[in-house]
Amino acid sequence: MSSSNPLRDAADRRLPRIAGPSGLVIFGVTGDLSRKKLMPAVYDLANRGLLPPGFSLVGFARREWEDEDFAQEVHDAVKEHARTPFREEVWQQLVQGMRFVQGTFDDDDAFVRLRDTIQDLDEKQGTGGNFAFYLSVPPSAFPVVIQQLKKHGLADQTPESWRRAVIEKPFGHDLRSAEELNGLVHEVFAPDQVFRIDHYLGKETVQNILALRFANQMFEPIWNRSYVDHVQITMAEDIGIGGRAGYYDGIGAARDVIQNHLLQLLALTAMEEPSSFDADALAAEKTKVLEAVRLPKDLGRDTVAAQYAAGWQGGAKVIGYLEEEGIDQASKTDTYAAIKVEIDNRRWAGVPFYLRTGKRLGRRVTEIAVVFQRAPHSPFDTTATEELGSNAIVIRVQPDEGVTVRFGSKVPGTSMEIRDVSMDFAYGESFTESSPEAYERLILDVLLGDSNLFPRTEEVELSWKILDPIEEYWDKHGRPAQYPAGTWGPAEADEMLERDGRSWRRP
Ligand code: BG6
Repeated sequence: MSSSNPLRDAADRRLPRIAGPSGLVIFGVTGDLSRKKLMPAVYDLANRGLLPPGFSLVGFARREWEDEDFAQEVHDAVKEHARTPFREEVWQQLVQGMRFVQGTFDDDDAFVRLRDTIQDLDEKQGTGGNFAFYLSVPPSAFPVVIQQLKKHGLADQTPESWRRAVIEKPFGHDLRSAEELNGLVHEVFAPDQVFRIDHYLGKETVQNILALRFANQMFEPIWNRSYVDHVQITMAEDIGIGGRAGYYDGIGAARDVIQNHLLQLLALTAMEEPSSFDADALAAEKTKVLEAVRLPKDLGRDTVAAQYAAGWQGGAKVIGYLEEEGIDQASKTDTYAAIKVEIDNRRWAGVPFYLRTGKRLGRRVTEIAVVFQRAPHSPFDTTATEELGSNAIVIRVQPDEGVTVRFGSKVPGTSMEIRDVSMDFAYGESFTESSPEAYERLILDVLLGDSNLFPRTEEVELSWKILDPIEEYWDKHGRPAQYPAGTWGPAEADEMLERDGRSWRRP
């Protein structure tokens, strides 16, 4: 029987989903992402009973490690970073399937050893030939790893077994390099074998955008240009670039997170209802929105790039971006970026979407604020209501996960004074389950072959198409603005909204 509810399809999505026989190979296993996110996520999945009994984890790296050394690394990473409690019996089972392959990416012998290891695991652990290859490596290493997988037959599927590639961002540097990379990946893997990670899509609160909009009746009727004044999408971080100079310098805030996380949030906020909650239907709607994104005519006026200068954070003095270790003194890299875009379709014509992100801002917060037009008429004395802001629905992505509705309310007393108040839904108060980490969800989806939460080639390329002209403009127009660390960004970003008669929220 077909369901009229798009959030429920034939394979009932309310049931727990457990991966079948399979294994995961991580390239770049000695890196930060692997230690802090991937290894803990694998353990957390095992601990929740969502991995098959013989699940296997293979690390591939240059390090001179034996299987035991690798297992010890995973053990330490799990103890330090896993979300769920450490249970010896879960660990003992997981460790049976752990192997390490030593080698460099251009070393044919190492890939032969990897193939033998996989065969051995198929026999001993019953992985059934089903393996996902996680490329947690710098973009420069993508081509060689992908070619090696092809050359050694590791990408070949059989009717009984699958092979998948998981690719971490950054997926290219601009549209041209993304197209090249896509070309290369698709020479080796079919589209349904490729999983591009945008970890924001694995966050509970991000998936909740769809639930909020399409599992309810009360929001969608006002979710359009007739009622919405503008939308603000903020991803603020309090951290600096830390030890990531090598990755970050030359990339900057817009390429690092607007191209992927923030444009995906925009797509989910603005898209039409998909015909079902399956990968094709979702991708089709997100793609339509990204195609309809229109850049402002005057990029000097409606975009801002800035760098953090020295300042204060959490009571401590912190250095500026140009003083960070490994950063070129003449670097023009943006650590803050704000852009205004519009969406050329019937639902959103004329409604600005303001996107901003930055390192070393006031505090860590990610939110989507849908800000409504003011009431067309007020029967109350204007002086009593002048403090009134606009109504807003705020999806709080992190850290304080939930949804806030802002509206005006009468202040108790004899006068008709009205002030803004908040109505809050907090995950922590409404649910006893804690939210899984994004990587838990995404790794499980890869093993299940469920690609709903993974951006497609077209989405990645469209996002670069949006960003490229902005980056080119910034390249041409000299140095970025400055903002003191610990503040909410440069004055230029405030002025950008003030010119439109609006202001940024101070979450
Ligand atoms: C990554 C960026 O994609 O997201 C980092 O490369 C950023 O620069 C990180 O710090 C933030 O992720 P989260 O989940 O902590 O918001």
